[in-house]
Amino acid sequence: MAQPIISTTNLARTFGKTKALDGVSISIDEGMIYGLLGPNGAGKTTLVRILATLIPPTSGTATVAGLDVVRHSAKVRKIIGLAGQFAAVDDFLTGRETLEMVGRFYHLSNQEAKKRAAVLLERLSLADAANRTAKTYSGGMRKRLDIGASLIGEPKIIFLDEPTTGLDPRTRAEVWDIVRDLVKRGSTILLTTQYLEEADALAQYISVVDHGKIVAQGTSSELKNSLGQDLVEVAVEKDLQSQVQNILSTVAGQPATIDEITGHIRITAKEGSATLLAVANALKAQQITVHDIALHRPTLDDVFLAVTGKPTVKEQTKQ
Ligand SMILES: Nc1ncnc2c1ncn2[C@@H]1O[C@H](COP(=O)(O)OP(=O)(O)O)[C@@H](O)[C@H]1O
Ligand SMILES: [Mg+2]
Repeated sequence: MAQPIISTTNLARTFGKTKALDGVSISIDEGMIYGLLGPNGAGKTTLVRILATLIPPTSGTATVAGLDVVRHSAKVRKIIGLAGQFAAVDDFLTGRETLEMVGRFYHLSNQEAKKRAAVLLERLSLADAANRTAKTYSGGMRKRLDIGASLIGEPKIIFLDEPTTGLDPRTRAEVWDIVRDLVKRGSTILLTTQYLEEADALAQYISVVDHGKIVAQGTSSELKNSLGQDLVEVAVEKDLQSQVQNILSTVAGQPATIDEITGHIRITAKEGSATLLAVANALKAQQITVHDIALHRPTLDDVFLAVTGKPTVKEQTKQ
């Protein structure tokens, strides 16, 4: 196996009495999108800032491309790009000027900075707005410009800290396309998010963080599977419920349950869609009219609730 491109061991960071990170060990393979999913205040930005060499850890170690982030911070900085939660965008510069200026921070020649800025403006669909000051940009445009600024040095490793927080769904989808495109070009991405759908849609591997600790880890389906089996759920008229409960119990070989609130009847789907078919056939044989019949997988929301005790973010949280 190749060495992980990012690795942390028991990483901890305190601010006064706050344990922002409390012993985090992660390992990220080259070329993947790694999702760090957690609510506000979980410690996501603290982890990103340590990996980006902006702050040192209180204890534990972290390496990026085999380089210790404390001892080799200058070298690490050269190979990473960071797009922060609070867009580092200057209102009074145009999009083009912003990217060219950041390019010069990376010690690119004027000519090279101009060339890369033009390519990025095109790729991020900002070419038409390139010569307008950022103060006229929408939230989504600023986020894209901020991501552009993190890419001008052509880093292999990119940290995207809540790149879509506060964006409307359409603009969020645009940012998702940019992220997928980056990975196709061979980058490794550490993405933090408060949104399950985002981790689910983009990340090959997800760590759920809460109170500075990793509380669950795995691929999206592993996390969902960890909550147990699929369910078949049937909705019928109230006066048919107990009859349907008997039918489903027979199919499942164990008692079906009736949800107290919805009145839906449920069994565990040991054989997935085959169980769904068996239920449908048994109901049809008894000529039962159903309102709805469905196979349910646990969602990442269920996982989140189970491991953090908190429901997930549905509303866009203001930071
Ligand atoms: N510079 C700081 N000074 C004091 N407390 C901080 C600082 N940075 C972060 N914290 C605290 O550390 C915890 C984790 O914060 P953060 O890493 O920003 O979480 P997230 O990015 O997941 O929202 C929070 O309780 C936050 O208030
Ligand atoms: Mg944060």
